[in-house]
Amino acid sequence: GGPTKIDIGKIEAGRLVVDSWRGSPVYVVKRTKEMIFELSKEEAKEFLKDPELTNVNQQPEFAMNYHRSRVPELLVLVGVCTHLGCAPKLRAEPTEELKGYGGFFCPCHGSKFDLSGRVFIGSPAGDNLLVPPYVIEGNKLIIGA
Ligand code: FES
Repeated sequence: GGPTKIDIGKIEAGRLVVDSWRGSPVYVVKRTKEMIFELSKEEAKEFLKDPELTNVNQQPEFAMNYHRSRVPELLVLVGVCTHLGCAPKLRAEPTEELKGYGGFFCPCHGSKFDLSGRVFIGSPAGDNLLVPPYVIEGNKLIIGA
């Protein structure tokens, strides 16, 4: 139990860091400038089931934005596919399977998510990946605070 603390000062941009919180894996990605640029593109929304983030159960209020996080440079997600609970894999580079964008790919049944964890149209998963509550204090990420 209790919050999970991660030193984000040591994280390399574009790499997936996996930790755990309340028995679930949590994913942390320090985004590169290119990743943030990709995410901010209006045309990327056409591939997403819920680009406007209408389901408030999937994120705290601070994540109701295109980067679904407190700051664009940092992504924090519960690393559990919203279909049947497998662990999605990070595709940091744009790939064909993600319509030329980066994001997450679930190996179990092929659900796809963008670099904010927003689910792609055509995925068996219906919902975006969950954003846990967290705060950032200097170089410290505190999940569950
Ligand atoms: Fe991820 Fe089914 S568990 S696609």
